[in-house]
Amino acid sequence: MDEVFGLTPDEVEGVLRTAAAAPSVHNTQPWRFRLHHDRIELHPDLERALPATDPDQRELRLACGAALFNLRLGLRARGIRPLVTLLPGADAPGALAVVRWGGHRDVDDETRALIRAVPRRRSNRKPFHHAPVPVAHRHALVRAAERERSWLHVVTDRAERAHLQGLVAEAHRLQARDPAIRAELTARTGPRTTDGIPPASAGIRPEPQDEWALRDFHATPRTPGKDYEPDPLLTVLCSFHDGPLHDLHAGQALQRVLLTATTLGLSASFLSQPTEVPHLRHRLRRALGGHLTPQTVLRIGYGTHVPATPRRDVTDLLLEPCSSRS
Ligand SMILES: Cc1cc2nc3c(=O)[nH]c(=O)nc-3n(C[C@H](O)[C@H](O)[C@H](O)COP(=O)(O)O)c2cc1C
Repeated sequence: MDEVFGLTPDEVEGVLRTAAAAPSVHNTQPWRFRLHHDRIELHPDLERALPATDPDQRELRLACGAALFNLRLGLRARGIRPLVTLLPGADAPGALAVVRWGGHRDVDDETRALIRAVPRRRSNRKPFHHAPVPVAHRHALVRAAERERSWLHVVTDRAERAHLQGLVAEAHRLQARDPAIRAELTARTGPRTTDGIPPASAGIRPEPQDEWALRDFHATPRTPGKDYEPDPLLTVLCSFHDGPLHDLHAGQALQRVLLTATTLGLSASFLSQPTEVPHLRHRLRRALGGHLTPQTVLRIGYGTHVPATPRRDVTDLLLEPCSSRS
C-alpha cells in the first residue's frame, strides 16, 4: 500500500476499508481508488454498473458518495482534515472526487461516534420492533442530511404514506417483470455469491400481506406470524437538484444519515424501487411538491441483529498510479 498524507500503509488500508464499508445497490461496491502521496482519487468501477436497474448510474454515484463520506470520516479519525473536490475534471480524468490534505485536526466526539458506527451499520431487511422513532431522533436524521447539502423528507401524513406505498408496490411489480433487472439481482444474490448479498442478509421472504414491498434477495421463509412492523418510519432522501454533482452530495448525505441512525440504535433498509423507474420517480417528485429530487427511500426502526455483507479485498480496489503525475 503506497504512502498517502504521511500515513503508514496499514493506516491507508484502514481508511480504504472504511470507505469500502459503504452501502451500494446489490452490494456492487462500484468504487476504486488511486493513491498519490498528496491525494486520493475516487473513481467509479463501471464494470460493476447495473445497466438495467440503474441505466444512468445515478445509484452508482450515490454509493460512491457514501464511500466518499466514509473516506472523509476515516481520514478525520486519523487527525486529517480532508479537502474534497467533487467531479474534478481534467485534474483527475474520470474521477468522481479527489481528496487532498487539508491540515491536522483533532478528532472530535462526533467523528469518534460515526467511525465506530461504520462496522455496525448494515441494511436490515428483517422486521423491526413495534416501537416509534422519537421525534428528537428524526430531527437528528434530518439534520444529518442537511449537513451534506441534501434533504431527508419524513413521511408523516397518512395519505402521503399510502401514495408512497402504492409507488413502491407498482415499481416492484414492474421491475419483477423485467428479465434484465431480475438477472442483475439474481447474479448478486444466493448462496453462491462471493461479494454480493448472501442469504443471511436477505431478510425474510416477501408475503402478500406485507405493506411495503421489499426486494427478495432469495430470503429464507419466515416463521409463521412473524410479519413486518405496522408503522416504520418512512423517509425519502432527496437532493435539491438533479445531476451527478447532486447525486454525490446525496450519497454522502445517505451515509451520514445511516451512520447517525446507527449511533442512535436505529436500523434501516432501502425501498429504492420507485426511484429507479423514471415515470414513478417523476410521480414521487410531484408528490414531494415538485422541487426536490428523490434519490432513495429508507425504512427506519429498531431492528435485531443482521450479519455484515462481504466486501471486496482492498487490494482489488486500487487503480494503477498514473505515469504522468506522482
Ligand atoms: C442507492 C442504494 C439503493 C439501494 N436499494 C436497495 C433496495 O431497493 N432494496 C434493498 O433491500 N437494499 C437496497 N440497498 C442496500 C444494498 O443492497 C446494501 O447496501 C448492500 O447489499 C450492502 O449491504 P450493507 O448495506 O448491509 O453493507 C441499496 C443501497 C444503495 C446504496
